[in-house]
Amino acid sequence: MSEVKQVPLYLAPMAGITDKLFRNLCLCHGCDVVTTEMISAPGLMTAPKNSRVYQELLDVEKDEGPLVAQIFGHEPQIMGEAAKKLTDMGLYSGIDINMGCPAPKVTGGGSGSALMKTPEIAEEIIRHVCHATLLPVTVKMRLGWDEESINAVEFAKMAEQAGACAVTVHGRTRKQQYSGHADWEKIAQVKQAVNIRVIANGDVVDAQSAREILRVTGADGIAIARGALGNPWLFDEIKAMMRGEAYTRPSFDEVVETAMRHARGMEQWKGSLYGVVEMRKHFGWYIASRRGARKVRTAINVAPTLEEVEKLLRELGNMEE
Ligand SMILES: Cc1cc2nc3c(=O)[nH]c(=O)nc-3n(C[C@H](O)[C@H](O)[C@H](O)COP(=O)(O)O)c2cc1C
Repeated sequence: MSEVKQVPLYLAPMAGITDKLFRNLCLCHGCDVVTTEMISAPGLMTAPKNSRVYQELLDVEKDEGPLVAQIFGHEPQIMGEAAKKLTDMGLYSGIDINMGCPAPKVTGGGSGSALMKTPEIAEEIIRHVCHATLLPVTVKMRLGWDEESINAVEFAKMAEQAGACAVTVHGRTRKQQYSGHADWEKIAQVKQAVNIRVIANGDVVDAQSAREILRVTGADGIAIARGALGNPWLFDEIKAMMRGEAYTRPSFDEVVETAMRHARGMEQWKGSLYGVVEMRKHFGWYIASRRGARKVRTAINVAPTLEEVEKLLRELGNMEE
């Protein structure tokens, strides 16, 4: 096996998922830099202190490791103001600008991946944000809007010119959303075209795919989203591969211990009712690869307490694989 470049691993932003608890789990398991869920810039500028923005999106664990705040919006002025406000909070190590989100409620207003269709506005946004903060500013982008308008190379060059210190490139178009395969060759083209750091993103789910994305793209880092769901150990696995060390997957007992610690943290943070509801998707991911998981997931989704959930998880562990 050829040598693998040792690069930092990033937890890519995921709305509804990369909260302080999940971020910390990933940091404990080899992730180097974590990102908040996307935060609406205009929302941030008008939100009252008791709103969800403050209670959840901006809630940070004490001493949380390198944490990047991601903002979205389409008005350069407001994006700059939001970057300044986040910087002044003193909790973040960088500001990431979302130019990749495909959701219609985001792109409809001209934000997220819609900015890849309006590079002149995107440029103005990057300039305003860079002017407003001394923190490193990064851009998260896709390959382009659709197959006919792939402009990742020009867009990344523009981001570099405007002051971004890195781009994270998800190797899909907006039209693809999350379907098909990420095109790592096109990420490689971006890497060859710019002098800033390029973080490769899309479809890294194990050590093998991490090794391959690095080989194909020559990227300076890997950002991982879905692969970490129910598997924060993925970062340990990739780190072991990069160091040339053997990796042992956690036993199912360890998985259950972690899932329950995660759940108790959620219960403490959001209260017992909402905490249990919020954990359901995570429980599903923790057990996804286990035989018999589907039936247990259905039972977990109606279990009223965490004690009940733990019993179901232990029973699943006792079932033959
Ligand atoms: C549930 C979910 C929520 C996401 N939320 C965001 C977000 O808030 N900001 C963003 O830039 N990308 C978001 N993404 C995209 C991911 O960061 C990432 O680019 C994409 O999932 C591809 O990486 P992966 O193959 O490792 O999952 C989200 C993806 C998922 C699945």
